[in-house]
Amino acid sequence: MKGIILAGGAGTRLSPLTKVTSKQLLPIYNKPMIYYPLETLMRGGITEILIITAPDRAGDFLRLLGSGRELGAKFTYEIQDKPEGIAQAFIIGENFVGDDSVALILGDNIFEDDFSQAIKGFKTGGHVFAKKVPDPERFGVVKFSSGGIAEQIVEKPKEHVSDYAVTGLYLYDNRVVAIAKNLKPSVRGELEITDVNNVYLQAGELAVSTVSGAWLDAGTFDSLLEANLLIAKREGSAVL
Ligand code: DAU
Repeated sequence: MKGIILAGGAGTRLSPLTKVTSKQLLPIYNKPMIYYPLETLMRGGITEILIITAPDRAGDFLRLLGSGRELGAKFTYEIQDKPEGIAQAFIIGENFVGDDSVALILGDNIFEDDFSQAIKGFKTGGHVFAKKVPDPERFGVVKFSSGGIAEQIVEKPKEHVSDYAVTGLYLYDNRVVAIAKNLKPSVRGELEITDVNNVYLQAGELAVSTVSGAWLDAGTFDSLLEANLLIAKREGSAVL
């Protein structure tokens, strides 16, 4: 399985911090944010990793991460010219993915869980990871049937669907590239990862597991602070 870290986007919600560098390179206690999604993939045994960045930030990522050889990995870089949706990662990454299956992780997602079993045991279809959250309207949300079976993923629902947000780690078989190429942009003009998940779900080929440990999408000032506190505590900071 190959890995993609999606680390583009404008990061406007974190301005002026993101005038200095990309959101995914901001510090989370003692490391730049991208180290955490990188660790999540590498712990699962993934070593061939494509890093997708915004055009004006590619140099910062290259300077930090280089070839990956020091970490026992091989990094490839691609530019996303405009933030036209998470699912665009598979179109940008088509040649990189080749004939393999792929794990996509968002560069601002920090997980405590170890996904190595799911990654190493992955065979076919899609596999997403949901987490109960107090603010599901911010995310893709899993709608369950009365029998408790996942029946649809709804992106940022206006009305309450469930408390289970789809987190930013996605495992797919090779069909994901063709699925992404067939998507139409949503009303917000993006190729939605939720639409990819619904294709697999409707085919009865999407596994939905739950995340038991902490999960943070460090895209706002408060979640960035929360992520810093979580890691500082875990690393035994004397301040906390
Ligand atoms: O964090 C999980 C959530 O991520 C999912 O529950 C949602 O279904 C999914 O749509 C996404 O929601 P967000 O509102 O958090 O997406 P956002 O636009 O903030 O993008 C997430 C990260 O991906 C962010 O770090 C920037 C990067 N990104 C995003 C887009 C749309 C890119 O690099 N390129 C893009 O085109």
